[in-house]
Amino acid sequence: MRILVTGGCGFIGSNFVRYFLKTYPDGSLINVDKLTYAGNLENLSDLSGSPRYHFIRGDIADAARMEELISKDVEAIVNFAAESHVDRSIEDPSAFMKTNVFGTFVLLEAVRKVFPKRSIRFVQISTDEVYGSLGETGAFTEETPLAPNSPYSASKSAADMLVRAYYHTYGLPAVITRCSNNYGPYQFPEKLIPLMISNAIEGKELPIYGDGMHVRDWIYVEDHCQAIDVVLQRGKAGEVYNIGGRSERPNLVVAKAILDRLGKPHSMIRFVADRPGHDRRYAIDFSKIERELGWTPSVSFEEGISRTVEWYLNHQEWWKKIRTGEYLNYYKRMYENR
Ligand code: NAD
Ligand code: DAU
Repeated sequence: MRILVTGGCGFIGSNFVRYFLKTYPDGSLINVDKLTYAGNLENLSDLSGSPRYHFIRGDIADAARMEELISKDVEAIVNFAAESHVDRSIEDPSAFMKTNVFGTFVLLEAVRKVFPKRSIRFVQISTDEVYGSLGETGAFTEETPLAPNSPYSASKSAADMLVRAYYHTYGLPAVITRCSNNYGPYQFPEKLIPLMISNAIEGKELPIYGDGMHVRDWIYVEDHCQAIDVVLQRGKAGEVYNIGGRSERPNLVVAKAILDRLGKPHSMIRFVADRPGHDRRYAIDFSKIERELGWTPSVSFEEGISRTVEWYLNHQEWWKKIRTGEYLNYYKRMYENR
């Protein structure tokens, strides 16, 4: 199978590229990535030289470029490319609209130009954040109405609506996955888990928003990659598949688990001003993908967080290089005087 992946130099994308090439010895893959602040060629440096892997620097919002790439002989497109960080979307939403909304539209149009002359599938990597926030109980199902609360989740919801419309109007064989919070190797250290681990290793405070009782469902990235593959191979066109880790934890519990594994005191936690519009709780009902496609997560939170802490301890050069320049400016803006 020959596929095109967008955003393959980011966190989940790079894990997926490696997973795909390992799983399919006859498979080949083109990775198109703009290399924004979150894209890092080092994430896939072990693949350079592989005849089955081809990297192209490009923007998914560049219509001519995407048409040219998609007109080549690819059987499927997996769209990971996105601006992905909620706090950055609150600071400045414009890049989120360009990439997440317009970029997805450009890809869909490029696919529309080759389909149905050629058989091609489109997998949109969406998020559970499109469903909004839950109270104390309940879980998002694929039927839960979309109610995004941040510019990031609004942009992802808009993209989902476009994918839906292209399936209904043009019959474009597209599927959408909506996954909960990922963690694991190569996650950019602005997100909760890698931020907490790298701060703790460097002896810096761990900033927790509000009362720390906001709940996320955590999934180890390799489990997410497996689920995406199952949807890519067997997902039904026009359908949405929720994906989760069965590991709901309040942020405070996550931060303490990290400190415990590093042998550091809980007093390193500092409560800071809450995120505006902060969603209180996410929980995801992923029984559809379990029932229909036979996927279930296999890595427990305890196992996944131990592996992740270990990875960040063993790859300090990787994240220390990131935590310079633009990152430090971002960190100051986000956390100083908060
Ligand atoms: P990330 O920020 O680590 O990586 C995004 C990648 O996309 C980067 O390599 C970046 O250079 C690239 N990119 C950005 N704009 C681009 C453009 N215009 N053209 C081409 N490439 C571009 O993100 P991630 O955490 O790996 O998330 C990947 C996808 O999964 C996103 O669509 C995100 O919405 C979704 N998702 C993430 C999570 C999570 O917990 N991280 C959970 C569910 C869904
Ligand atoms: O649910 C899936 C989503 O998960 C993805 O679609 C997003 O791309 C991804 O970034 C993630 O969004 P969150 O906003 O949930 O992730 P983040 O790591 O930014 O925050 C997780 C929780 O931790 C959230 O409740 C906010 C809180 N937090 C975060 C940071 C960075 C803190 O308390 N302190 C922090 O410094």
